[in-house]
Amino acid sequence: MQKLRMGVIGVGGIAQGRHIPTFLKLSDQVTIEAISDVNETTARNVAEKFNISNVYSDYRDMFKDVDAVTICTPNKFHAEITIAALEAGLHVLCEKPMAMTPEECQSMIDAADKSGKVLAIAYHYRFMKDSRAAKQVILENEIGQPIVARAKALRRRKVPGWGVFTNKELQGGGSLIDYGCHFIDLSLWLLGNPKVVEVSGSTYNHLSKMPEQLNQWGSFNHETFEVDDHVTAYIKFDNGASLLFETSWMANIKDDEESLSISGLTGGIDLFPFQLNQMKHGMLLNSEANWVPGEDDPSIPQAQNFINSCLGLEELIVKPEEALQVSQIIDAIYKSSESGKSVRLI
Ligand SMILES: NC(=O)c1ccc[n+]([C@@H]2O[C@H](COP(=O)([O-])OP(=O)(O)OC[C@H]3O[C@@H](n4cnc5c(N)ncnc54)[C@H](O)[C@@H]3O)[C@@H](O)[C@H]2O)c1
Repeated sequence: MQKLRMGVIGVGGIAQGRHIPTFLKLSDQVTIEAISDVNETTARNVAEKFNISNVYSDYRDMFKDVDAVTICTPNKFHAEITIAALEAGLHVLCEKPMAMTPEECQSMIDAADKSGKVLAIAYHYRFMKDSRAAKQVILENEIGQPIVARAKALRRRKVPGWGVFTNKELQGGGSLIDYGCHFIDLSLWLLGNPKVVEVSGSTYNHLSKMPEQLNQWGSFNHETFEVDDHVTAYIKFDNGASLLFETSWMANIKDDEESLSISGLTGGIDLFPFQLNQMKHGMLLNSEANWVPGEDDPSIPQAQNFINSCLGLEELIVKPEEALQVSQIIDAIYKSSESGKSVRLI
């Protein structure tokens, strides 16, 4: 089988920690032909560390070497680089969030449609074993029509103190656009991506603006901290379903919590871990998964689905139109918090 020739653009934390090691593990399907980073020292060091021969400071120079690229730059550059790569005839796996605004996301989709190439967004929570188990039981109608979803992505005191995560200009926001976006995406996918009707949200950053900090993930300047560290939202869909959502990098809570539950008309599911809750055999019955097949590391099935989609062997799981929906909700939460009113999308 022909191997996909891959390039990686922006080789900081997530490229080194996830994408490059994953593609190297899948060496029977893919080769990493080139990397690019505006920081030439980083680019050279990463090339040496992973033994990659073609290194560029301008990402456009790598286009001739590859069939596809993974974009791992700060959020501000996702749209520009994605569109340039698609126009050069390349497939794109872009890190989450898709882009800074819904308008940018739409231009990326337009470019993908025009080029006929694959555009995937790295919402990797969908590829976790528990998430796939939940999707399967929902598709097999074990919980009936989903009505209410509850998602929590909460960290107690873990503002990322490295990179540009607290820079609004480069990232577009804080805990919501960086961390909560995964749980909005996962909730939408499990609900079957109904249309969003109305969004109401509140954003906070009181704790991160305080001078005395206890932060488990490095340090940051409270005076220049300009993004959200805690967000709540209520989202209504056109099929009558609703999502209660909360995310935080910095909440005064007992402990970190990642959970998602969906109540349907005939049953419910809980994540993480996966549990199916039903009324069956004359009792209230809760079932756990004893073993779920597949990779524990979601980066592997995410990369495999991207590669197979590029090779025309499999349908893309995270479709760009679905990632656009996530960005529409994020944008509406920020707007709702600012205006103090709910935002109607249709
Ligand atoms: N899927 C996840 O769970 C997850 C986790 C962490 C980060 N991310 C996403 O990955 C992206 C990068 O995050 P990170 O933690 O690796 O950041 P990082 O700051 O560690 O790395 C970003 C790299 O991009 C480079 N860069 C900046 N502008 C560039 C440009 N125009 N062209 C080429 N290179 C450029 C920087 O020099 C840096 O080396 C962000 O969009 C972030 O949201 C996703």
